[in-house]
Amino acid sequence: LAAEESKGSKVAFVSDKKNMVSIMTGLSQLFGQAIQSAYPDLVDPPTTVVPSTQRFGDYQCNSAMGLVKMLKDKGVKANPREIAQNIANNVSENPLIEKVDVAGPGFINVYLTKAYVIDEINNLLSMGVRPPYVGARKRVLVDMSSPNIAKVMHVGHYVLRSTIIGDAICRLCEFVGHDVLKLNHLGDWGIEIGMLITNFQDEFPNYLSISPLIQDLTTFIQESKQRFDNEEEFKARAYASVVKLQSYDPDCVKAWTLICDVSRNELRNIYKRLDIKNLVDRGESYYQPIMPKVVEILDKSGLTKVEDGRKICWVPGHSVPLTIVKSDGGFTYDTSDMAALHQRLFKEKADWLLYVVNQSQNEHLETCYDAAAAAGWCDRKTTRIEHVGFGVVLGEDKKRFKTVYGDPVLVVDFLDEGIRRSEARLREEGRDKVLNEEEFNAAKEAVAYGCIKYADLSHNRVHDYVFSFDKMLDSKGNTAVYLQYAYMRIQSIARAANVKPEDIEAAIGKVQLSLDHPKEWKLAKCLLRFPDIVLRNMDDFLMHILCEYLYELCGCFTEFWDACYVVEKDKTTGNVVKVNMDRLLLCTATARIMEAGFRILGIRTVAKM
Ligand code: ARG
Repeated sequence: LAAEESKGSKVAFVSDKKNMVSIMTGLSQLFGQAIQSAYPDLVDPPTTVVPSTQRFGDYQCNSAMGLVKMLKDKGVKANPREIAQNIANNVSENPLIEKVDVAGPGFINVYLTKAYVIDEINNLLSMGVRPPYVGARKRVLVDMSSPNIAKVMHVGHYVLRSTIIGDAICRLCEFVGHDVLKLNHLGDWGIEIGMLITNFQDEFPNYLSISPLIQDLTTFIQESKQRFDNEEEFKARAYASVVKLQSYDPDCVKAWTLICDVSRNELRNIYKRLDIKNLVDRGESYYQPIMPKVVEILDKSGLTKVEDGRKICWVPGHSVPLTIVKSDGGFTYDTSDMAALHQRLFKEKADWLLYVVNQSQNEHLETCYDAAAAAGWCDRKTTRIEHVGFGVVLGEDKKRFKTVYGDPVLVVDFLDEGIRRSEARLREEGRDKVLNEEEFNAAKEAVAYGCIKYADLSHNRVHDYVFSFDKMLDSKGNTAVYLQYAYMRIQSIARAANVKPEDIEAAIGKVQLSLDHPKEWKLAKCLLRFPDIVLRNMDDFLMHILCEYLYELCGCFTEFWDACYVVEKDKTTGNVVKVNMDRLLLCTATARIMEAGFRILGIRTVAKM
């Protein structure tokens, strides 16, 4: 949808204060028009433009091959080379393209204009990293993290992934200028809560007069579940207390509040460690008061019917109905999600609803979305309602992530272990000798949390992924610590050459970039692909694409660094004899793009590590 929208509007080829140019969008538009003028009779011909992987050209348009059949159906016989040539001849005047040529069976190689690339790098330096144009500002609501208060939060579970992926998506949407509301759809209202309340009342009988504190929430949760599974009488009371809670019985609400407070405290800690900001707690309980009304609305739309005493909702295209009201009159997870959809569409007036929830809930969520559409609350073609799903975290044995004793790993323990490992690694490398305590601690945290996030984000979220502490901290692989080191090294180039930030600032726009060396050219082109990546990510929210891009950028930088002198030193004295300012500017541009990438992924950078 994001790309659709930017396609519809006129593409600017030159960036401005607000937006960087997406070269891929520009070229797609140019070639789309070229195909239209070469073959006016074709309806919706496909345009495929990609960055070149070979030595020929900078981008490539591969549409010709696909058009052979489309043209044949129209009675036009032409081979792909002729078609490619015809398209090439019809590309209109523009500042991007230096020349095009037709190669092989019908590829169109596109060569960018050097002056254009130089201008855009200068714009990047003088105006900063800006998002590509994505159309009108949207109100984006992101349902993320969403732990169940009555469940022990462990790593093999979904909460950590939802938190990390969800936060990156929010940062991405904010980066392009959307208005983002992050909602924590806490599981704070179902039967599991009944267990906790009942156990709480047994353990702290005086809780109404003195507020007790649960010392260890994990143990408390496990104990409550034990009793629920083994004691018939406890189970009955647990069920009764959910009914009481849902009708706002004051004693139950008090117990519930005390339990939720403890849980929220623990969560706050985890979010703080992971730099998750502005996450609004809005659990299932929030929707209780509007559920009866929403049920009524669904009744009126004729979507509900009573079967076996339950009120259900069959949704076209789905084989399992939603249970809206249980036979005992209670509401369900389905009801709360329908209420949440209604509230989000009508009260919050969200343009987009993104649910960052594990893959196993796909059917449930899609059924709810289609029910909302069937009730006429939204049109799924125009309102972006999307389940952003993901797989589970596995251990190196490709089984559920667990401790050596076979127990699930608590999220807190996992973060602690990350810190321990990162600290050990930095000490091994002798960083504790170079950095003062404050710097060392900052580096330790940046590496630990950065690596944990990056390990998750750099895998295709749709699949399960295998986590390994050793791999995550591998400073030569595609990891956060590799990128962080690379960034720090780039940042220190100017410092080591005694060039002050103000000197660089002053050189922007004054010192001419040449981009004559092939490695300079390659690096510059890679830098300008950033907006293409952002646009693509706005469409698919596959954040590993951005990770791969940053890794590739570091690779381009290394090639450039190895081949081109930035700072020339006297071989014997080691004194700086010459600073190639134009190349130093290229280093600065690289650092800027990396910072922007890190910011989107939620990974900290440190000046020293
Ligand atoms: N707490 C839920 C669970 O236990 C996840 C909530 C996802 N969001 C939603 N609107 N259903 O799986």
